[in-house]
Amino acid sequence: MLILGIETSCDETASAVISADKNDISVLSNVVSSQVKLHAEWGGVVPNLAAREHLKNILPVIEKSLKEVGIKLENIDLIAVTSGPGLIPALLIGVNSAKTLSYTTKKPLIGIHHIEGHIYANFIGADEEIKFPLLCLVVSGGHTELVLMKDHLQYEVVGQTLDDAAGEAFDKVARILSLGYPGGPAIAAAAANYQLPIANYQSISNGKIPKLKNDISFPRPMINSGNYDFSFSGLKTAVLYETKKHPELLKDKNYINAVCYEFQQAVIDVLIAKTLAVAKKYKPKTISLAGGVSANIELREQLEKAVKDNLKNTSYKLPATSYSMDNAAMIASAAYFRIKKNKDIPVDNWKKITADANLELK
Ligand code: KG4
Ligand code: ZN
Repeated sequence: MLILGIETSCDETASAVISADKNDISVLSNVVSSQVKLHAEWGGVVPNLAAREHLKNILPVIEKSLKEVGIKLENIDLIAVTSGPGLIPALLIGVNSAKTLSYTTKKPLIGIHHIEGHIYANFIGADEEIKFPLLCLVVSGGHTELVLMKDHLQYEVVGQTLDDAAGEAFDKVARILSLGYPGGPAIAAAAANYQLPIANYQSISNGKIPKLKNDISFPRPMINSGNYDFSFSGLKTAVLYETKKHPELLKDKNYINAVCYEFQQAVIDVLIAKTLAVAKKYKPKTISLAGGVSANIELREQLEKAVKDNLKNTSYKLPATSYSMDNAAMIASAAYFRIKKNKDIPVDNWKKITADANLELK
């Protein structure tokens, strides 16, 4: 079957066409129009600006996703749209466009939870069957959750952040370090450039810049808390204090790289420790990653090693990096598994679809 997916929950206007059959998902087109440059000026996403951009781009983006495949809307079997969670002004543009398309073409419409979409990015082009129970570490700009799935579409959130999401922490730390928005890729790039331990750095600095008393070291919040929850706001504050102690070093690239390296490693250490702790209790057959932060190469590789070293009977599944960040192929992928379970979606189902900023995963 052919599914058209639409996503506008944050700052990407996205539309994709997938072909799905017998759990085999192929992406035929995947168009993403990013507003990153626009929001970078403001240091984060401005909801009303995002909505204006979505309004401008949504129809051209949908049209492009169909044209790339050479098909018309009449050939689509199902339309799927992100109905939440997200920024309401942004969600409304996608939801209303999808409802209008459904009404005019008489193709059924279903609403998809944004995080469900991220999780189902793992099922795109999967060469092997993904085995349940599946434990998914969801790390995005708005969410940090450990989601346990006994089967398709069955979600139990076993741990989550008590304050900032992992991606949000990357974005806030990037702002502290003046690295721009979005912070994740900028911090990852700076961390990758970090070469010398701070101890060496002190010696080559030759006393020209004030010496650091210790190597930079940040806390691993809640790593020994005995539960599966996270907290990242204290880590962000630790970075802020560190840079306040050494404002004169902020112009120094290697210092910034070192701060990024240690911050990123602190986040990764906590994410991996909690994922392993949940895995030891619930014994999943598969562990996977999802959400924008899953594009982080260090996280991808270190989690893979941790799974291999610590969990003998658990396989590891990653979404392709092109499906890590917000996109509509993942929304269409989730929709396929929804319609497989409930084949009788009426053509006027659009009447029931609303946008919900705080939609729960269930
Ligand atoms: O899933 P996503 O595209 O949007 C939301 O649903 O929030 O995730 C965006 C988040 C941002 O916070 C961004 O900084 C982070 O993902 N991100 C990364 C990387 N690429 C994007 N974080 C760490 N390392 C990356 N390479
Ligand atoms: Zn997302």
